[in-house]
Amino acid sequence: MTDREVKAAEGPLLESKLREERRFEPPADFRERAWVKDRTPWEEAERDFEGFWAKHAEAEVHWFKTWDRVLEWNPPWAKWFVGGETNASYNCVDRHALGSRRTKTAILWEGEPGDRRALTYEDLHREVQKFANVLKGLGVRKGDRVAIYMGMVPELVIAMLAAARIGATHTVVFGGFSSQALRDRIQDAQAKVLITQDGAWRRGQVVPLKQWADEALAEAPSVEKVVVLRRVGDAAGAAMVPGRDVWWHEAMAGAAADCPAEPLDSEHPLFILYTSGTTGKPKGVLHTTGGYLVGTTLTAKWVFDLKDDDVYFCAADIGWITGHSYIVYGPLSNGATVVIYEGAPDWPDKDRIWAIVEKYRATIFYTSPTFLRTAMRWGPEYPKRHDLSSLRLLGTVGEPINPEAWMWYHEHIGGGRCPIVDTWWQTETGMILIAPLPGVQTTKPGSATVPLPGIKADVVDEAGNPVPPNVGGYLVIERPWPAMFRTLWGDPDRYVKAYWSQYPGRYLTGDGARKDEDGYFWITGRVDDVVNVAGHRLSNIELESTLVAHPAVAEAAVIGRSDPIKGQALSAFVVLRAGVEPSDALKEELRQWVGEKIGPIAKPSDVFFAADLPKTRSAKIMRRLLRDIAEGRALGDTTTLTDPAVVEELRQRYIAEG
Ligand code: PRX
Repeated sequence: MTDREVKAAEGPLLESKLREERRFEPPADFRERAWVKDRTPWEEAERDFEGFWAKHAEAEVHWFKTWDRVLEWNPPWAKWFVGGETNASYNCVDRHALGSRRTKTAILWEGEPGDRRALTYEDLHREVQKFANVLKGLGVRKGDRVAIYMGMVPELVIAMLAAARIGATHTVVFGGFSSQALRDRIQDAQAKVLITQDGAWRRGQVVPLKQWADEALAEAPSVEKVVVLRRVGDAAGAAMVPGRDVWWHEAMAGAAADCPAEPLDSEHPLFILYTSGTTGKPKGVLHTTGGYLVGTTLTAKWVFDLKDDDVYFCAADIGWITGHSYIVYGPLSNGATVVIYEGAPDWPDKDRIWAIVEKYRATIFYTSPTFLRTAMRWGPEYPKRHDLSSLRLLGTVGEPINPEAWMWYHEHIGGGRCPIVDTWWQTETGMILIAPLPGVQTTKPGSATVPLPGIKADVVDEAGNPVPPNVGGYLVIERPWPAMFRTLWGDPDRYVKAYWSQYPGRYLTGDGARKDEDGYFWITGRVDDVVNVAGHRLSNIELESTLVAHPAVAEAAVIGRSDPIKGQALSAFVVLRAGVEPSDALKEELRQWVGEKIGPIAKPSDVFFAADLPKTRSAKIMRRLLRDIAEGRALGDTTTLTDPAVVEELRQRYIAEG
């Protein structure tokens, strides 16, 4: 080893000792029919990077006016398709409604109580135009911000596309967020109008969105008008404020049906989406129009191999970037049929998602590893109740997928025949950057494989030097991409500092990764999720994957709690699979298991059996709270949890068990 390699191996990097040997080739018939069958796009992009993007921007997106320059890159400030004019709403709606897809179904929607609606592209065209006129009537002008606080209803999509149509910038706030979170986001964006609904259905209960919106608005005076969709009716008891609030259906009844899409500058702000950073203040990630549309349209087409006869079902919430890019903009821009489900995956029973796949004959399914691990815990009898033979492609996003969850997905959902695309990206990247193209790439369970055509990523050490194969480091993106965020809303300094200062000109993702000898990327998780045990850095994710690979384990979270001797000691919080009995012998077995799989240093000091793990509403395990429990501290902020009771119960039991 050279000095640098020694330093890299000892540096602030992840040690990766878990190896995955399984390989999966694209099935021959899949490859045969796939959009991308060979490596030509990668070669084209390397030969002529800007030419590559120009070619696809031209082919995949409608422009009112073509661009003068493909890219203007003054690091870290990017402009794409400079001088071009387009409109996201036109691309997602008009070009299909006015073309050959007029009567094609755009949205297949299912409410939690079982009600159903189907909207053709023609229907969507009419509704979006009408609502755009409603917004105009409420005083919304190009450049104004419109906040949207709704559940998973078709009107959420209509509202987004209506705002985009007239050049208003939408900011969707996840319907599971509290009134405080909504208030903070509205205040930061200075939104002029809020669109919400009386209430949303969740596990048969009403989520009182309008009531929470009212609480937020008490301290968010920028909002002049509120549009309220009637979804649950009297059950919500929503009170309308005269002069400020209007019902969606009443406003729509009087709206004209014609509202042409406004030609917008390629760099016109399309939306702001808030995401959490390392400080308490959420970051307003800003995406603009032309580049975002090119990036999401092309990646939706290639990564999901989206064809006209596909039925595409993404189980994410539109309140997150996954829903923005891969429920709304990417799929609709491709003219796809998109399934949208309103409610909880275990309502009325744990087979709801699979029932939906069967009912609509979904061909593509996209979800998170957390959901898959949950489904694993529930057991394969739930998917077995349904005919899932329509599926031809599966995807995951949001966190590293444990090889065992990948295999479970492959077998129990994909029937062994569907390629799996593990897609790595972020709110900031706007589009998928690292993922297999399913007709080309051999997959390895747990790896997002390689960067997409045109994307250049690497794994580097503290000083920015590439690390050797299988040594952990920091994941960076080496050059701009069309759907990249352009800044943080109202905070350009933070944009520069948080993402572009450590390695000037290169984008710091905040994730740790390693590349294997084949150049495959293995994302090990956020760099802040690193445990240092006796000077050895281990990835929480790898430890957790190892535990989940044990037949008794459904879910696991591993944290480092401070230890006077080793610096940090590992505590494992483990959720057992249904039917497995907890015992001290099993605790010891799990410790040994991890020791065997990764190395003695990785053996958890203690194993604690939990009924459930505390998760944020975006389904991330909050290790910070587990650390608080393990270290006997008062619990930190629990306001972003799905269910704060989980963590309190865990704490009580942890104390009781000593
Ligand atoms: O840590 C990575 C993880 O999710 C982070 C981005 O979170 P967010 O902005 O909420 O967007 C999630 C949906 C795109 C990343 O920094 N992440 C996302 N996808 C993967 C992943 N980690 C591993 N593998 C993935 N496929």
